[in-house]
Amino acid sequence: MSTPNPLIPHIYQIAENRSEAQDIATLYLEPPAGTYCTGSPGQFNMLYVFGVGEVPISICRGPSNDGLIGHTIHAVGPATRALINLQPGDSVGLRGPYGSTWPMEITKQKDVLLVAGGLGLVPIRPVIHQILADRASYGRVTLLYGARNPEGVIYAHELQSWGADHEIDVEITVDHATTGWEGNVGVVTDLIQNIALEPADAVSMICGPGLMMRFTVAALENAGWDPTSIYLSMERNMKCALGVCGRCQFGPNFICKDGPVLNYGKIEKLYRIGGI
Ligand SMILES: Cc1cc2nc3c(=O)[nH]c(=O)nc-3n(C[C@H](O)[C@H](O)[C@H](O)COP(=O)(O)OP(=O)(O)OC[C@H]3O[C@@H](n4cnc5c(N)ncnc54)[C@H](O)[C@@H]3O)c2cc1C
Ligand code: FES
Repeated sequence: MSTPNPLIPHIYQIAENRSEAQDIATLYLEPPAGTYCTGSPGQFNMLYVFGVGEVPISICRGPSNDGLIGHTIHAVGPATRALINLQPGDSVGLRGPYGSTWPMEITKQKDVLLVAGGLGLVPIRPVIHQILADRASYGRVTLLYGARNPEGVIYAHELQSWGADHEIDVEITVDHATTGWEGNVGVVTDLIQNIALEPADAVSMICGPGLMMRFTVAALENAGWDPTSIYLSMERNMKCALGVCGRCQFGPNFICKDGPVLNYGKIEKLYRIGGI
């Protein structure tokens, strides 16, 4: 019997297309009959829009009771634009899940600092879901989230409920305020000085634009965090997602296979000299 070709996607159906903000939507996908979704916080799938292209997209909600898997997509080009235009009943190709996961196991019993910029909140969201499903296993949890403006805030309802129940300390900031915004204004790194976590017994997980991650890492190091307690989710252009084509190489690492989640302590030297 021949081995299935790992590059051939499975056909999933759009169950729901939920708008999050301008040009940003979450697609909830139903797997083919008789199969079920897998995927852990931090991992991604390759989504293929027929006749347009295939792109890596983080899992924003892992498999849950309804059997659907979620992906939040920002339309920045042809494939992502075509994805957010798909409607319930349309089909999409999916292969995965791929990549490394956030360190959920070693984080147990520790404080957790989550720092997200823009769409960086997408792979952080399943971390929060997992923590909330087993809240007693984690210490104090703080989420710092920066968006470009109030209209760009995604998962607005959930952010409110995570903070309102005091299960998680949620701090949101925007680069540019618009009328009616009464929250923080400024970059997400400004919020780090106010956090009440003890770095010696905490783990930090960061995802966002390259520059934001760089400044966040520097702020954490200044605040006494050990590099090995910091995890980053990195992005690179991808093609195969199988560790074969080399498109996503970062030093000795392939971001599709060794990443996207990497321990900062292990890549510190490369990260300091390398591109973002
Ligand atoms: C591991 C991983 C996880 C990802 N998760 C998500 C996710 O959850 N949601 C999501 O929307 N995207 C995610 N991305 C980024 C996404 O894969 C790209 O935006 C997508 O490949 C763009 O394809 P395109 O054909 O639409 O546009 P392209 O034609 O490839 O690009 C259009 C333009 O957008 C620019 N561009 C490309 N990528 C980005 C980007 N990330 N941000 C801003 N501008 C960009 C390009 O430089 C180009 O100018 C992820 C990427 C990786 C590597
Ligand atoms: S995308 Fe081909 S090696 Fe990573």
